Amino acid sequence: MRSPSFAEAAVAAVAEGPLPEDAIRRGFELTVVVPTFNERDNVELVLERLDAALDGIEWEVVYVDDDSPDGTADKVRALAQDHPRVRCLQRIGRRGLSAAVIEGMLSSSAPFFAVIDADLQHDAALLPRMLAALKEEALDIVVGSRRSPGGGVGDWDRRRVAISNVAAGLARLVVAADLTDPMSGFFILSRPAFERAVRRLSGQGFKILLDLFASTPVAFRFKEMPYVFGRRQHGESKLDSFVIWEYLMLLADKLVGGYVPARFISFAAIGGFGVVVHFTALYLGLKLFAFPLAQAVATVVAMTSNFALNNVLTYRDRRLAGLRFVTGLVSFYAVCSLGAVANVGIASAAFADHYTWWASGLAGAVVGVVWNYAVSSVLTWKRS
Ligand code: GDD
Ligand code: MN
Repeated sequence: MRSPSFAEAAVAAVAEGPLPEDAIRRGFELTVVVPTFNERDNVELVLERLDAALDGIEWEVVYVDDDSPDGTADKVRALAQDHPRVRCLQRIGRRGLSAAVIEGMLSSSAPFFAVIDADLQHDAALLPRMLAALKEEALDIVVGSRRSPGGGVGDWDRRRVAISNVAAGLARLVVAADLTDPMSGFFILSRPAFERAVRRLSGQGFKILLDLFASTPVAFRFKEMPYVFGRRQHGESKLDSFVIWEYLMLLADKLVGGYVPARFISFAAIGGFGVVVHFTALYLGLKLFAFPLAQAVATVVAMTSNFALNNVLTYRDRRLAGLRFVTGLVSFYAVCSLGAVANVGIASAAFADHYTWWASGLAGAVVGVVWNYAVSSVLTWKRS
């Protein structure tokens, strides 16, 4: 019988107890995944921290870089020339923290993964204790928490603390586990735990930990370890106001994603907001124009605002810019015009069939929004 590989032995140890004495380590035990976007000046500092912290552990680090314009990937490859533990996974034409982390894990063969930000806000020195707890206490995942006793969020202002509290509360909608810091981006997990969840992950946005907890078919055995969120060293945070929208989309995807695509929810929500835009524009337009012209102007204003919002929210990953913004807008007008014809047609047919006015109107509106969504997804925001 062949002797178990180190990875097999390590995984077995999680299930059955300590590693057998004769397990020979042939590969890395731990892959540290570091997502990067414009972190050129931080990547070497992270490497130094990892090197100091992970003494005695066979580890590697994979920086997953989304083609940062500041040349982060080149910097990582230069480091890798001197450090065999360093790898660079460069993704082109894509953005997204969660997806980057998932691909980093998929590129690894190690039995354990850690995830840590590049900007030194997470405490790398905690990693050996997190790994030891994972192995010795037979856990699936150990989470660095800013909110358990002894942890802290550092120098956040009141507003950021309040937003974070609301987000953590909303997380309860999709995760039953009693996590104090479901937004944490600092954790360590075992390969079997990852593999159980990986095909169900949403991969949207940047809340990878929440995604994992919401996607695992069997509840994770987990533990939290407190740490204090540090100050960013160089560069700036990538998380702008759109992250709130992305977060809501992740929740929507986890709540109803099995039935309706999250993009459709986003598209329909923006369509609902478009009604408000329309009536506001109509109200203002009536001060200047006769009704038919005011109604026409309001229609164009609402379609344009729907287009612009969908372009930055629903299709943020395929965002159209420059000339493609203009051609996209024209195609969106065309799609919506046909959608309006379908809407009126269906509603009129239903009404003629003796349905009440509101049921007829609703049927027309539903057909219109489904048409607009389906056709604009292939014509306006086609996958390039
Ligand atoms: N590959 C890739 N692609 N990396 C990204 C992207 C992206 O689109 N966006 C951000 N990153 C990287 C950053 O370079 C950084 O290393 C890390 O992800 C976190 O981004 P920050 O911009 O520093 O986010 P933050 O400090 O506001 O932190 C928030 O997110 C963290 C996720 O790890 C907080 O919610 C933290 O709690 C959380 O840990
Ligand atoms: Mn940060």
